[in-house]
Amino acid sequence: MPWPPPNDSDQDQNRPSARHSLHISRILEMTALGLTGRDRVALPGRHCSFSECAGDISKPGRKVPMQKGLLIWVNSTSIRGWRAPRASAGRLTSAMPRPPTASGWPATAMVVSMRATPRGRGAPSAAPAVTPAEPLASRAFADKTVVRRASHRQAPTRSAETDPLFGRGFRFSYDPPSSADASTRAALRKLPSIIGITLRLGYRADPAALAAVAVSQLVMGVATSATYLTAQRLLTGLFSAAPADEKIHSLLPVAAFVAGAMAIRGLCEAVAVAASGRLGPRIAQMAQLTLLEQAVRVEQVTMEDADFHNRLSTARQGADATARVTQSTVGLCGGAVSILAALWVLVALNPLLTPLLFVALAPRAWGVARTAGARHASTKRWMELARQVDLLAQLMTHHESAEEVRAHRVGGFLLAHYRRLATLSADEQARLARGEAFTRSLAGALSGLAALATYGVLLLLVIDGRTTFATAGTAAFAIRSSMMSLTGFVMQFQQLYQDGLLTIEWREVCGHARAEAVPVRARPLIPPVETISTHGLHFTYPGARTPALDGVDIDIQRGQVVALVGENGSGKSTLAKLLTGLYLPSSGSVRWNGVPTTELDRDTLWEQVSLVSQDFVQWPFTALANIVVGRSDRPAEGRRLTNAARSTGADVVVDRLDDGWSTLLAREFFGGTNLSGGQWQRLGLARAWYRGAPVLVVDEPTSALDPAAEIDVFNKITELAANGTMVILITHRLASVARADRIYVLDAGQVVERGTHAALMSTNGRYAAMYRLQAEQFLAT
Ligand SMILES: Nc1ncnc2c1ncn2[C@@H]1O[C@H](COP(=O)(O)OP(=O)(O)OP(=O)(O)O)[C@@H](O)[C@H]1O
Ligand SMILES: [Mg+2]
Repeated sequence: MPWPPPNDSDQDQNRPSARHSLHISRILEMTALGLTGRDRVALPGRHCSFSECAGDISKPGRKVPMQKGLLIWVNSTSIRGWRAPRASAGRLTSAMPRPPTASGWPATAMVVSMRATPRGRGAPSAAPAVTPAEPLASRAFADKTVVRRASHRQAPTRSAETDPLFGRGFRFSYDPPSSADASTRAALRKLPSIIGITLRLGYRADPAALAAVAVSQLVMGVATSATYLTAQRLLTGLFSAAPADEKIHSLLPVAAFVAGAMAIRGLCEAVAVAASGRLGPRIAQMAQLTLLEQAVRVEQVTMEDADFHNRLSTARQGADATARVTQSTVGLCGGAVSILAALWVLVALNPLLTPLLFVALAPRAWGVARTAGARHASTKRWMELARQVDLLAQLMTHHESAEEVRAHRVGGFLLAHYRRLATLSADEQARLARGEAFTRSLAGALSGLAALATYGVLLLLVIDGRTTFATAGTAAFAIRSSMMSLTGFVMQFQQLYQDGLLTIEWREVCGHARAEAVPVRARPLIPPVETISTHGLHFTYPGARTPALDGVDIDIQRGQVVALVGENGSGKSTLAKLLTGLYLPSSGSVRWNGVPTTELDRDTLWEQVSLVSQDFVQWPFTALANIVVGRSDRPAEGRRLTNAARSTGADVVVDRLDDGWSTLLAREFFGGTNLSGGQWQRLGLARAWYRGAPVLVVDEPTSALDPAAEIDVFNKITELAANGTMVILITHRLASVARADRIYVLDAGQVVERGTHAALMSTNGRYAAMYRLQAEQFLAT
């Protein structure tokens, strides 16, 4: 269904108009929305900082790096490309999110490149009924080809498809591989980069093994060439008219040399295999570590991005593939050495023979590049489906969903959907195999023809008398060996290219993750934290149409307990994440001691935060690790642990465990056990207490606690505040917030009431109504 509905009255007010038409200068004006120069900007074929991009755009006569038909989505953290339906090209569309304020530009906007449209002409007279554009998100800038295709193709064919389980989150395609991946030229162009990545990783992982591989390959090359060249002398000697004993006498050293060279070649091959076998796993481990190092630093909002997850999954495959790339590189080098040696021999024998070898190589190389390109494109495009198939398998086997799978008899339902999606995946594999078979047979036929031509030319040269019989024999031997090497070479090349594309993806995702990482060289936060405040705070989740927070102004002082209350979905948890710098505002600001979180070094900010989030992590580790992970950068402290456990009731939980603090809290592992919801909550609270930071944020900390434990926890929270801790408390238990210094009532992302319990009760508003309702319920029971 088009969004917003065509006769939505609000939409009339927000309908794009000439005033809203994107003019290039508009992009620059968006700095007013809180974009800073450091914010990342993604445009087709480019990924730069906003200041670089804005500078580029502002240069007179400069071609704007955007294309007609491409929507650009802007918020405070990124600008992303969206593929737009053709009808909407050149103007703002009704697919843009509603402006959160009535005063002009929204904090988040979707705009269309206006390169070809003069100011004012872009506005439609009536809002066009367009389906929401399909987000290309991070893919748009990493995969230039997608963007390039978007400029000349219609809207994506599968955006309208919905899946019974995954709705519009279900995306895959039968698109052919992009030309950038499937051509031989592209393969050859990417090869140095693939080998370069592996070499650098190899150097970092195990330089000795890398050197062993390199030296053995080099010696192997020399030995192979020597074998071929001496083989010619051997053949010439054999076919000469000299007497037999003289032949034996003169040829014996030559034969011994050939045998020696072959033995050295074999030895080198063994060294290369052993060294690359040691090197491969180390490289893969290093690649995985590098990726994970970057991933844990990525902004929270990026971590929630589906496209980033798809790319992350491909990149994890890419990290594993680096080990195989090492093996294939070694194999390829061996193959290349043999081919070069054969070439050398052919040049020495008759230069006319050399082009024929290339002619024989070309069809195979084309076939390999095409097949590997198709496989890679398919892996990337079907990653979401592959993840969904994995997810279904996990849901059927994971202990957390086991209860419902049985009690609600969901097993059959999940199995049916698993079968359906897995079949789609299998069909895709079959489609790829068909394409591969066709490509291979074509390449095979062409290279057969090339081989025929090669031997034909050789025969002609002998008939013409332009070459001797011995030379032709050596040439035939060299050609045959090189053809065999070629077959091995081609197989290695295919494996290398296929894995290499994944490796390139790994490198790109590492780079993307680095660009999306929480900046570290910002202003450090200087403790103590005296105030946290928000000013006109807006926040819209990426891809959401309505803001989760819409102009929030709050102020919290050191030593205060501030409570956030409101209905489900009113924005309390989102506000907590913005207050703690996990998200950055779409517009407006969150300030710590007066400094916006966008300017602060958030590592120093998080140093000051203890967080019990609504869905806090139940680490599948021991009870002890579950608490001390709150301060993982320091060795465990006994007294701190005892205090934290006693303050939150975690001590009672641990006392009942068979192995006390050493009990593993993961049923899926040997010797593991599980806790009740309330017991877990006590552990979650104990972790925050153990962390002992001056700002404590607790989101629904007592929802599973028994009444006595709940009262205890709130008493302890009040004590903490009396000792100078700033407490941000989110709860639906209004009896517990009555003692808070200030209560903010949220509704649909806005603060609708604020004050102390007494003040709010006397105004008789929403808070008073909620409080009375809870109190009545309590009295009635
Ligand atoms: N990660 C997310 N991505 C997109 N939208 C989200 C996300 N988290 C929350 N929302 C949306 O933001 C709005 C506010 O959600 P939030 O979790 O802040 O509500 P809440 O007040 O904490 O609710 P509750 O009392 O149920 O915990 C909701 O409409 C929700 O659907
Ligand atoms: Mg919440």
